[in-house]
Amino acid sequence: MGNESSTPVAEDVPPVTLYGRTIEAVADYIKKNNVRKVVVMNGAGISTSAGIPDFRSPDTGLYANLARLNLPYAEAVFDISYFRNNPRPFYELAHEMHPGKYRPTITHSFVSLLHQKGMLLKAFTQNIDCLERKAGVPGEKIVEAHGSFATQRCIDCGLEYPEEKMKEAVAIKEVPYCEKTRCGGLVKPDIVFFGEALPESFHRNRSLPAQADLAIVMGTSLTVQPFASLPSFVREETPRILINRERAGGLGSRPDDVVLLGDCDEGVRKLADALGWREELEELWESTNPHKGEKKEHDVKPKDKQTELDDKIDELTRGVDKTLKLSEDHQKQFEKDFSRRDDTGKLAVPGGLARSITKAENQKQGNAQVNESGPTKDDLSHVYPHIGSKSADKSSL
Ligand code: OAD
Repeated sequence: MGNESSTPVAEDVPPVTLYGRTIEAVADYIKKNNVRKVVVMNGAGISTSAGIPDFRSPDTGLYANLARLNLPYAEAVFDISYFRNNPRPFYELAHEMHPGKYRPTITHSFVSLLHQKGMLLKAFTQNIDCLERKAGVPGEKIVEAHGSFATQRCIDCGLEYPEEKMKEAVAIKEVPYCEKTRCGGLVKPDIVFFGEALPESFHRNRSLPAQADLAIVMGTSLTVQPFASLPSFVREETPRILINRERAGGLGSRPDDVVLLGDCDEGVRKLADALGWREELEELWESTNPHKGEKKEHDVKPKDKQTELDDKIDELTRGVDKTLKLSEDHQKQFEKDFSRRDDTGKLAVPGGLARSITKAENQKQGNAQVNESGPTKDDLSHVYPHIGSKSADKSSL
């Protein structure tokens, strides 16, 4: 176990369980065999599209970009003996890697979908970013083989350290120390460093791959033991899929291995397509989007020139209608107030108002004499221009 051949099986060797070494054949196997015990084994490659670098990719990997930390060798940043003497580089890095900033990828959501469908036996992950949890996979279905940022404790006395304080320390890149009187040991997230034992949950569950009816290995170089041995525990006749940018861990060396070289997100989308799950998967992933439901600027269609012009005309028309409506109301009120006429046919306007209207009109015409008997309808039409006028024609605007 763990020492599998890394030679890919020859093309002409027929598979035993699958009808072919293709993703469609895997989908067919899943559908026809009521697959219920999928074991997933993940590595840093499933989180790179979320913006978290992996470790060993030649240019973009974490280990290729640690020169600024002045480490004796790259992996020292996760070495417990080195940490005891110099915890600063780790906390520099923790500041950049701390979960909370990142959204799960669609690959994490695929694992979550397997769980929702009652098909996930266990998700083993080497990742410390907690993105499987964030994608909705429950804690009891995950084995965080290299620990996680979820809890933290003193490396001397083991006392747990408060989460909020840890977040604060990471945010300001400060090294936290144990709060127990007379201890003062260094505090470290419960991430497994080189030189430390793997969590008990790994040992308790490490035989589960032997019960699997399908194994999916994604985004890992399978270089760190004992995790790297997990796929070799899968039974010979059980199909194993590797979705990764490069070959890893001897996968592809068995007749029922299917190797999908490329990006994980692309690979799980292909598998979801073959299974008829694509829409569900995209929806599930969208539910992890912190900006879901928000309209992006470019989602709002720009108006064409004609629509803009029509809107403008509508706006103007509404304005004119409003003015006319006010004028009509005004006129009705006016006619109600002034509908009574005297014997000479003049409108019987209440005295004070009649005088001020006529006076205003006379003054306007340079006529000092005030018609004390009240204004005629003609007099009033100068002051109330709408009297006797017709509504403006909208089409003339
Ligand atoms: P590695 O960096 O060793 O491997 C990541 C793998 O994912 C590589 O084979 C990449 O080619 C591949 N990859 C990267 N991005 C991908 C993508 N978007 N799609 C598909 N493949 C992609 O990371 P791990 O195997 O997880 O341990 O490393 C294992 C352990 O080594 C880590 O848990 C860490 C490290 O030292 C500790 O910190 C204890």
